[in-house]
Amino acid sequence: MVKICCIGAGYVGGPTMAVIALKCPDVEVAVVDISVPRINAWNSDQLPIYEPGLDDVVKQCRGKNLFFSTDVEKHVREADIVFVSVNTPTKTRGLGAGKAADLTYWESAARMIADVSVSDKIVVEKSTVPVKTAEAIEKILTHNSKGIKFQILSNPEFLAEGTAIKDLFNPDRVLIGGRETPEGFKAVQTLKDVYAHWVPEGQIITTNLWSAELSKLAANAFLAQRISSVNAMSALCEATGADVTQVSYAVGTDSRIGPKFLNSSVGFGGSCFQKDILNLVYICECNGLPEVAEYWKQVIKINDYQKSRFVNRVVSSMFNSVSKKKIAVLGFAFKKDTGDTRETPAIDVCKGLLEDKALLSIYDPQVTEDQIQRDLSMNKFDWDHPLHLQPMSPTTVKQVSVTWDAYEATKDAHGICIMTEWDEFKNLDFQKIFDNMQKPAFVFDGRNIMNLQKLREIGFIVYSIGKPLDDWLKDMPAVA
Ligand code: NAI
Repeated sequence: MVKICCIGAGYVGGPTMAVIALKCPDVEVAVVDISVPRINAWNSDQLPIYEPGLDDVVKQCRGKNLFFSTDVEKHVREADIVFVSVNTPTKTRGLGAGKAADLTYWESAARMIADVSVSDKIVVEKSTVPVKTAEAIEKILTHNSKGIKFQILSNPEFLAEGTAIKDLFNPDRVLIGGRETPEGFKAVQTLKDVYAHWVPEGQIITTNLWSAELSKLAANAFLAQRISSVNAMSALCEATGADVTQVSYAVGTDSRIGPKFLNSSVGFGGSCFQKDILNLVYICECNGLPEVAEYWKQVIKINDYQKSRFVNRVVSSMFNSVSKKKIAVLGFAFKKDTGDTRETPAIDVCKGLLEDKALLSIYDPQVTEDQIQRDLSMNKFDWDHPLHLQPMSPTTVKQVSVTWDAYEATKDAHGICIMTEWDEFKNLDFQKIFDNMQKPAFVFDGRNIMNLQKLREIGFIVYSIGKPLDDWLKDMPAVA
């Protein structure tokens, strides 16, 4: 029986390994992590991450051929294939701070693999890493290997949170990069055989190591670039009276462009896009390609611009001040169907409103109060460094309350900001909400999910990204 061990039981390691275990009953899979609470949660009825369909997959395999454990060394020692799916955050200090990937967690995992191994292994980069990382990992492994042979593969993960299980069951493609040597080809084939249990052969792409590593950064950069492109258009739509939904539709029906990833919003979030683009920018700079670096940097700049434009719109619409006004924030996760708040645009929007002394009442069906308070009091990029969590700032806590009900959050509010496209927000009784709010009552739809006409008929003043502006908003100071 092939034994797989995955280091890192997070959003990627957990679901990916659960699906491998389900689809490959002849493979034993152990997912290990240094975080005891995380592993305890994977072994309980309350999994540490919310992902539709995940509970079911885990229940079917856990205890049979899927195990979660903190005994990292034992499972690594016994494995034939070791996936490494640990955090690769943005560096917060030193050389490349604010851009380069921090490979501390990866390096310590690689050193541990070298230390505890007593047999040959395939080591798989599952985390998203800078191109050429495999070279560094190889050096760490071979310099400590006591004659043991390691083959490094790059097998980046393309799942999207919220649809992880669906994506893993039916991936557009699986990408495996390896050394172009007989041993490298053999290792690629071994991993290919695992995926071939359920992924059609034609959808398993094999490349050299560097192409696989770079393809993941490139894919995320392209996806984020589409969002920034449509968001840039949304600003122009508001200035001209065009409707961004109509523009996106007209553009996306061109088969060369395609309709996906063309929804305008308050901006992209999630743990990957910004981190991976910053990393790409840094790699370009290090390789003497400042023009290429500048091109990709613009994707992040537009994303930041979109968030601050939204905050400015809220403040300017409400007579240029939200000081002491209650603003209900509906949704905090970076997208629907996940409880993940990493780099969610809601953080920057809330921080912007708090700057202007707003009182925030936040509701998200999947995010806890603790998480929200932590997110709002953490410094940029600290979230992905679990060992260096920043203390909470008491000032922020005072201005923020978290509720478990949208009606409670909006009661007596002056305005509502919709930050996540949760389906339940579309079905709220907005007449009831309007009746319980201060007047004039505002809705700022950061996800373009509301029926604007209906809201206007009720009496709301409505702003929705990239849509023609209400007269009220046109009369307010211009938003930069
Ligand atoms: P995560 O933070 O949810 O999970 C990482 C886990 O690794 C944590 O539980 C942490 O305790 C553990 N860990 C760190 N160092 C360790 C060590 N030395 N030994 C054992 N465990 C250790 O992160 P997530 O979201 O799963 O991401 C992992 C990697 O996958 C990142 O490189 C990310 O860029 C990439 N990725 C993430 C995607 C996503 O949607 N979240 C999608 C595709 C790739």
